Amino acid sequence: MKTITVYHNKGGVGKTTTVVNLAAALTQRDKRVLIIDLDSQANTTFATGLIKFEDEIFDDIKDRNVLQVLTSEELYPISEVVRKSTYTRPEVDVVPAHLDLMNAEKDLLNIEYSRLLLRSKLEAVADDYDIVIIDTPPSLNLYARIAIITADYLIIPSDLKPFANQGLNNVKNFIKSQNVFRKQMMREPIKILGVLPSKISTNNKFVESTLKKRIETIQDRYNLPVFETVIYDREDLAKCAEQTVNLGMMDAPDPRSIFEFRPDSKAASEFHHLAEEVLEKIGLR
Ligand SMILES: Nc1ncnc2c1ncn2[C@@H]1O[C@H](COP(=O)(O)OP(=O)(O)O)[C@@H](O)[C@H]1O
Ligand SMILES: [Mg+2]
Repeated sequence: MKTITVYHNKGGVGKTTTVVNLAAALTQRDKRVLIIDLDSQANTTFATGLIKFEDEIFDDIKDRNVLQVLTSEELYPISEVVRKSTYTRPEVDVVPAHLDLMNAEKDLLNIEYSRLLLRSKLEAVADDYDIVIIDTPPSLNLYARIAIITADYLIIPSDLKPFANQGLNNVKNFIKSQNVFRKQMMREPIKILGVLPSKISTNNKFVESTLKKRIETIQDRYNLPVFETVIYDREDLAKCAEQTVNLGMMDAPDPRSIFEFRPDSKAASEFHHLAEEVLEKIGLR
């Protein structure tokens, strides 16, 4: 079982979009995939269709989500918290997040072992999954730390805009400090698979001149590898997560992966390409 964290401390760069569509592309390649949502905003939980009604009365996630996994040593193994999601086919297992993560952070910081619980609970399901993909909050908080401590590999989606690029120094420093912690656990540093160009303008002039320079900047100035795959700014990618289904009296969220929504789109083929590149890099091809 290989564990991949998708992280950048900036929001809106395509982390969640990467997590749900990469997971979908991997299941189409017969990989058994588990998604873990570690962001209190629960965007991945939403994008995988686990939030049916945006109403507290129907909140069936509150008592069984990633927070319980991180809080209780004895109870709440992954197998008891996981949900089957049909936002894509074949279906994917998801450990959902909940808004409660936000307020719980302070308490969790005082529970020394909580940082190690996700890793040890994942070890217990190592025979059930080929790949685990962890979504993270756009911050340097405890949950981002746990994601980096837990995973074998890291993908850093970035729109490559100057602000996101400057953020790469924060990402690098953050990883460095988590690697110290990993060392104490006798684990090697997390392997950076690369910066993934994401939400990139399809404007011809931009692609031909500016994009190349920005990619070089990341390699030269930040000394980070960059994925060969580019995920362009595609309306289909935004739309597939916003699908709804009419239930007579109301519309309910019915998000889909790009492969369910537009299997023949350019975005779908870009995510197929990404899946191939990731499998190659983690030695699963
Ligand atoms: N490649 C893309 N093309 C078009 N829209 C995108 C793309 N990637 C993400 N988006 C949209 O941009 C917004 C932020 O993306 P998201 O994946 O949630 O970023 P993050 O998780 O980093 O905050 C969402 O509304 C999403 O639908
Ligand atoms: Mg997100």
